[in-house]
Amino acid sequence: MLEVEGLTAAYGPSRVLFGLDFSVGTGEVATLLGRNGMGKTTTVRCLMGLLRPSGGSIRFEGAELIGCPPHRAAQAGLGLVPEGRQIFPNLSVEENLIATARPGPWSLEGVRRLFPVLAERRNALGTQLSGGEQQMLAIGRALMINPKLLILDEATEGLAPLVRAEIWRVLGELKASGQAILVIDKNLDALLPLADRHTVIEKGQVAWSGSSAELAADRRLQERYLGV
Ligand SMILES: Nc1ncnc2c1ncn2[C@@H]1O[C@H](COP(=O)(O)OP(=O)(O)OP(=O)(O)O)[C@@H](O)[C@H]1O
Ligand SMILES: [Mg+2]
Repeated sequence: MLEVEGLTAAYGPSRVLFGLDFSVGTGEVATLLGRNGMGKTTTVRCLMGLLRPSGGSIRFEGAELIGCPPHRAAQAGLGLVPEGRQIFPNLSVEENLIATARPGPWSLEGVRRLFPVLAERRNALGTQLSGGEQQMLAIGRALMINPKLLILDEATEGLAPLVRAEIWRVLGELKASGQAILVIDKNLDALLPLADRHTVIEKGQVAWSGSSAELAADRRLQERYLGV
């Protein structure tokens, strides 16, 4: 579904990505792992057309995405839950969900079923939501664009344990329904049972990639690149 090859990117003169290769198959859950500042968010920004890569290719269902504006990435089927959530602060929960919606199987009813709290809070403004409610809203909003690939940058960062558990439950449900997901998070215990494959990024390069079984068995790898 998604094939990234030789991806390079920079912020002005400072180079950040040095030739990344990874892929996500149809119906797969894949991760991008790595310590702070290694290039995970930069990679996501390239996928979404928010940062123009300096080289390489990003093919989604065979079509090249590099050079396309952000709305094309959404049209192609990429849905992002961004780092920091970026809820529209002055819109209500319902307006946030509808603002970027696109036709497809996901509707308000489906999102409300997935996250009942969003139904209860439907008239609250973005600014009135807790961090957990904002993250559920960000996931709901991304689903409302009916993405072929759902991308979560820091899926559970900074959230309370119960909210984290709720988000992992929902991601498991989405996977079971065939949704392809690319997830960034630091909680390996939750990612190992969920994901099919992992890509570890170290200073803008792929340091390791492999299956959950391989990663679970390799304590040295976890310590060296993930600080676990
Ligand atoms: N807008 C920017 N301008 C200049 N440098 C940036 C910018 N955004 C990020 N960087 C730098 O690029 C590198 C990669 O950052 P990036 O945000 O992609 O890392 P990350 O893996 O997502 O980290 P984290 O786990 O903390 O979210 C870092 O050295 C960071 O300081
Ligand atoms: Mg990041």
